Amino acid sequence: MAPQISPSILSADFAALGREVERIADDADWVHVDVMDNHFVPNLTLGLPIVEALLKTSRLPLDCHLMIEDPDRWAPQYAEAGAKSVTIHAEAASAPIRTLRAIRSAGARAGLGVNPATPVDGFEDILGEIDMLLLMTVEPGFGGQRFLDVVLPKVRRARDLIKGRDLDVWLQVDGGVSAETIERCAEAGADVFVAGSSVYGADDPAEAIRALRAQAEKATAAAPWSAAR
Ligand code: DX5
Ligand code: ZN
Repeated sequence: MAPQISPSILSADFAALGREVERIADDADWVHVDVMDNHFVPNLTLGLPIVEALLKTSRLPLDCHLMIEDPDRWAPQYAEAGAKSVTIHAEAASAPIRTLRAIRSAGARAGLGVNPATPVDGFEDILGEIDMLLLMTVEPGFGGQRFLDVVLPKVRRARDLIKGRDLDVWLQVDGGVSAETIERCAEAGADVFVAGSSVYGADDPAEAIRALRAQAEKATAAAPWSAAR
């Protein structure tokens, strides 16, 4: 799959979310929506009512990243509302397989997210239940943080696991993805790139997306993991 860019509206103007999504609609593949509950992470953002409002106007599919406790209870509702991708956190889910299946049955792609210090190796056997693995490259909770290089070996291992099983699981990186870091992520095996501050903090978000995509495509083409895909 060609690299995909999923800009995070966490760094957009919350008073004008509809327009902020429209600004990126011709260039992005997804719009990444960070749902935070002030329990799983120490920050509070938005929930289902705002996602429902965005679904009415957005030309882009919604990539909902749930940084909340009890995702087993809430996640299926995001998929039923019409989000095309719903990611729950492994650290928060008590019945991840049931919840991932519920997300899929509601017609969305099922994502599993892991924090920087959570290993992926333990999830090897449930990769078949997942459409996307989200690897946090900062501690979740806030935009604009510094990229954690220490996660890159895990990106490589995750790509190896996916390749080894011949699965079509997308590998998303989230946090600190920018012109300085996106090539390293792509080279390591990521194929979906969340970018908040590096898109919405730019003078021209659409141009920032195009530049990030060009970098990701170039680094992917040169990466050993992408050979003969
Ligand atoms: C952080 C969120 C990210 C955040 C990324 O917990 O999950 O999606 O918006 O922001 P940047 O790209 O600025 O690190
Ligand atoms: Zn996110």
